[in-house]
Amino acid sequence: MSAIPVHVPPELVRDFSYFTGPGMCPMRGGDPQGALAGLHDGPPVFYAPNNTYDGYGTWVFVRAEDQRRVLQDAETFSSHRRIFEKALGYDLPTIPLEIDPPEHGAYRSLLNPLLSPRRVMAMEAANRARAIELIEGLRDKGHCEVMEDFAFPFAVGVFLEFLGLPQSRRQEFLGWADKQFHGTPEERGEAIRTVIAFMGELVELRRREPADDFMTFVVQAQVNGRPMTDKEAIGMGALLFVAGLDTVAAAIGFDFRYLAEHSEAQARLRADPSGVTLAVEELLRAFPTVLMTRIAARDTEYDGIVIKAGDRVSCPSMVANRDPAEFTDPNRIDLSREDNRHVAFAYGPHRCLGSHLARRELVIAMEEWLRLIPTFRIREGTEPLTYGGHVFGIEDLQLEW
Ligand code: HEM
Repeated sequence: MSAIPVHVPPELVRDFSYFTGPGMCPMRGGDPQGALAGLHDGPPVFYAPNNTYDGYGTWVFVRAEDQRRVLQDAETFSSHRRIFEKALGYDLPTIPLEIDPPEHGAYRSLLNPLLSPRRVMAMEAANRARAIELIEGLRDKGHCEVMEDFAFPFAVGVFLEFLGLPQSRRQEFLGWADKQFHGTPEERGEAIRTVIAFMGELVELRRREPADDFMTFVVQAQVNGRPMTDKEAIGMGALLFVAGLDTVAAAIGFDFRYLAEHSEAQARLRADPSGVTLAVEELLRAFPTVLMTRIAARDTEYDGIVIKAGDRVSCPSMVANRDPAEFTDPNRIDLSREDNRHVAFAYGPHRCLGSHLARRELVIAMEEWLRLIPTFRIREGTEPLTYGGHVFGIEDLQLEW
């Protein structure tokens, strides 16, 4: 355990970790989101030493209302985290995620139109065709491993389309994604360096040979009245890689696992596919994947608790989404739950910019899977492998039909 700072009262220290705690370690048949629901029986804010993969302790905010306050107060709780710095050996912010307001606003409003509902609908037909092709390719086998055979290829295909890159690069991107999200610390570092080098080449190419695509738009953009630098353009491309692949694939995995274990839910959604949109929202509430983290930018007091500048702070969406003060019967999954104001896409200035795209990906994946694959279940003799961490996930999800 890392040393507990002197300003942390002993009664607020809990032995808890998103990485190694019960339900968080890679585990067959686990339920990492469900494993955290019990935190609502304890203190609303506590300190967990040794709770990040780099060995730091962190404050944990349990209640949705408190998480909202933290995430909306970017002056006190900064996003200046620099997830790539260790692997790269220099400072390269992922943009706009690791930039605080007010600078953040300029980058965000630049990217906003690229991920607007209208732009997402313009990609709809190609994305649906991609899902259908992948599913038709495995339907006759009668079984598959969802993450490798569908969730990642689908999410990577959408990403390539968004970036304006040819689908022939899918295998290459899948390899980087696999290493970055599921590799050893060395493999992760190597994958990050590869992705950054790739984005650097893309920036150079699009400056030299403009096209009608994302990176051309970014390198030609003005920010605060001056041209975008190469480093900024790379930081934007790299963020989309981390923000838009693993998250979507993991959500598809958790959705399909739930449906595989609930054939009556499959039957209901097959009989009335208009229910898929609400079902996707409820599954985003019950099985969100992203852990929001911040660093205190100044000393502050939160409901009498002293938080010092430099302290790490975490707002687990999976805990807020099981808050009984926000949701009736929060641990019950109700696929027709209305007014579902979950926090899977965060709150505040950094609220997910890709949420429209993500939602359409999840809806398309579920609609087409239910339409093309007959009643499916977890493959006999197998159990899915789940894990916690910064992005909760699922691996080795074997289904049969
Ligand atoms: C189910 C899938 C997804 C989930 C659960 C998700 C969740 C999140 C969350 C929780 C944040 C805020 C993180 C924080 O405040 O620390 C975020 C930010 C972001 N996401 Fe997503 N995301 C998903 C898919 C996507 C996709 C597909 C894209 C784009 C292709 C995307 C682009 C972004 C961007 C650009 C930000 C940074 C926004 C800012 O800093 O202003 N996300 N996402």
